[in-house]
Amino acid sequence: MSRSVLFAAARNEHLKEAIERIPLTRRLVARYVAGATEDAVVRVAGQLVANGLNVSIDHLGEHTRDAAQAGRVAETYVSLLDAVDDGGLAGHVEVSVKLSAIGQALHDDGEKLALEHARRICQAARNAGTTVTLDMEDHTTTDSTLSILRELRLDFPETGAVLQAYLRRTEGDCRDLAYPGSRVRLCKGAYDEPPSVAFQHRSDVDRSYVRCAKILLAADCYPMLATHDPRLVEITGALAAKNRRAQGSYEYQMLYGVRPDEQYRLVRAGERVRVYVPYGEDWYGYLVRRLAERPANLSLFLRSVASK
Ligand code: FDA
Repeated sequence: MSRSVLFAAARNEHLKEAIERIPLTRRLVARYVAGATEDAVVRVAGQLVANGLNVSIDHLGEHTRDAAQAGRVAETYVSLLDAVDDGGLAGHVEVSVKLSAIGQALHDDGEKLALEHARRICQAARNAGTTVTLDMEDHTTTDSTLSILRELRLDFPETGAVLQAYLRRTEGDCRDLAYPGSRVRLCKGAYDEPPSVAFQHRSDVDRSYVRCAKILLAADCYPMLATHDPRLVEITGALAAKNRRAQGSYEYQMLYGVRPDEQYRLVRAGERVRVYVPYGEDWYGYLVRRLAERPANLSLFLRSVASK
């Protein structure tokens, strides 16, 4: 099944309801999602930190369709940041925020609303002593997200950005964001994008990732190299060494539930590693993206659907 077919099927509400009822779904969700509640995710984050890892917590949910819900999501982040602070974890735990969850996708003044909510979350993060990174969603939101980032960084320069190597524009965005103090997460990109804006072949995406990593690691910014790809981990390590970067002047990032052994291997090698830990009930879109990345998970999943 191609990525496009998977993403198209995922938009079907009946299929979504059916998938949510399959027992195996729960097992797969448990692999990638830390739990449904704030308590659960703070507990998991505490365990990861105790084992030498850093964490970015994501409250699951995207494409909020009403302003009241966008406000509730912002509240959830403020409460989460209080809990992180109370748990003494703020030195190692930040949050990742999807702007579409806090109003960006709303028709009237969505961007303005998302910016207001993002400001509140950034202020709560600063009060706790930690930071926010703005996740990047599909390419129709890239300009809007980067413009909100620019606004936010006027008051909160510590706010992290995400750039996706599969987009043809990203090398240029890397150059724009590679300035001192700028925190930039580089990932391959997880959405179903057309050839007009995105590389379609894995090898082209990988080559773009390396070109972007070269720009970020040669500059005085703070690169956050988000990948599980063994070749890219090796290449970015070599680039960091070539640029004489001290360990801790950049970091590796990986997803909760993906290659945990590699996460600990890097920690043992003295690297800073951050795990992206999602929590909450609204896990469907996140799970579909993880299935699309991993054909082995997808075939296991489809076999279980067929046997129902
Ligand atoms: P690739 O997909 O080539 O995977 C390399 C290897 O990693 C695989 O062969 C497999 O062994 C393992 N692997 C990868 N995915 C797996 C999975 N789901 N289950 C099991 N094993 C798996 N994207 C985006 O568009 N916007 C964003 O804001 C973010 N944010 C983000 C944060 C962090 C911390 C990470 C690690 C990733 C993201 N992503 C993202 C997702 C990213 O764009 C990408 O889809 C995934 O990281 C998979 O790409 P890899 O670089 O790991 O390579």
